[in-house]
Amino acid sequence: MKRILSSEITSESNYRNRRQFIRDAGLAIGGGALASALPLVAAAEGRDLATVPGPHSTDETPNSWTDVTTYNNFYEFGTGKEDPYRNAGDFVTAPWSVKISGECDKPGTHALEDIMAPHTLEDRVYRHRCVEAWSMVVPWVGFPLGDLLKRFAPNSNAKFVRFKTLYDPKQMPGQRRAILDWPYVEGLTIAEAMHPLTLMVVGVFGKELPNQNGAPLRLVVPWKYGFKGIKSIVEIEFTRRQPRTSWELSAPHEYGFYANVNPEVDHPRWSQARERRIGAGLFASKQPTLMFNGYADEVAELYAGLDLRKNY
Ligand code: MTE
Repeated sequence: MKRILSSEITSESNYRNRRQFIRDAGLAIGGGALASALPLVAAAEGRDLATVPGPHSTDETPNSWTDVTTYNNFYEFGTGKEDPYRNAGDFVTAPWSVKISGECDKPGTHALEDIMAPHTLEDRVYRHRCVEAWSMVVPWVGFPLGDLLKRFAPNSNAKFVRFKTLYDPKQMPGQRRAILDWPYVEGLTIAEAMHPLTLMVVGVFGKELPNQNGAPLRLVVPWKYGFKGIKSIVEIEFTRRQPRTSWELSAPHEYGFYANVNPEVDHPRWSQARERRIGAGLFASKQPTLMFNGYADEVAELYAGLDLRKNY
């Protein structure tokens, strides 16, 4: 497939037009308290990435650049939703390397360029659902995680994959406080990690990933709650046992390992049945949450025989 610079075909504005994107007009009048509480400074846009349209995209209208880049969780830069946008600007993401270890025949440490080099970058628009009952639609740029993992030849003991974020309290002020057991750790079963929907993400809207969104490399698992999407990854380990993840360690009754979007299992402190779409305006009604975030046809078979009430 011919690689095309996204600036040739998908500048941010064209990208939006292609999907009849009209939310920018709506933001001024309907963006609600979230947007209007911010200064009207858009987060800086990075370099264009060479992409091709990827499979599996939703037809739903993407959220705006402002929604996607100013309303996040990235506790290394603070616990407020705008903190990552405000505090991650100077975070240094180059040079960057990723260590691959554990149950595989070809472990090693690779520069980001080497991690990315053989892959064609795909634009994929995914629903993004947070455990706090809000959602967005985000045009990610990335490549299937499984394609990357296969290069390291995982062996038959590799039942899970464990991911780790950079630990650097000098750059990440949140790590100077015991908010979580740092560094941030997440995990997937090997089948989840190999599923073609699971992405290693390096960009949004055809641009390099802004720091607050997890630059330079992060995970996106579209049928799971957003907290599985670990940011700024420096280590990937193939393991025999299910990894202990940061949120499980911090609040095991609230955040399980599987974290599949499931409207039938309430979070102990709130319902998961309905969700608020960020940017839809103060008067927009909440919408029903879909099982597996709407990706049930693709992923339900991964959990055949598993009690999804117990394995939340
Ligand atoms: N990754 C790291 N390293 N630290 C974090 O605090 N927060 C998670 C996830 N990844 C987090 C993280 C949570 S709770 C969510 S909802 C998503 O990032 C939110 O960011 P996004 O909208 O850019 O995916």
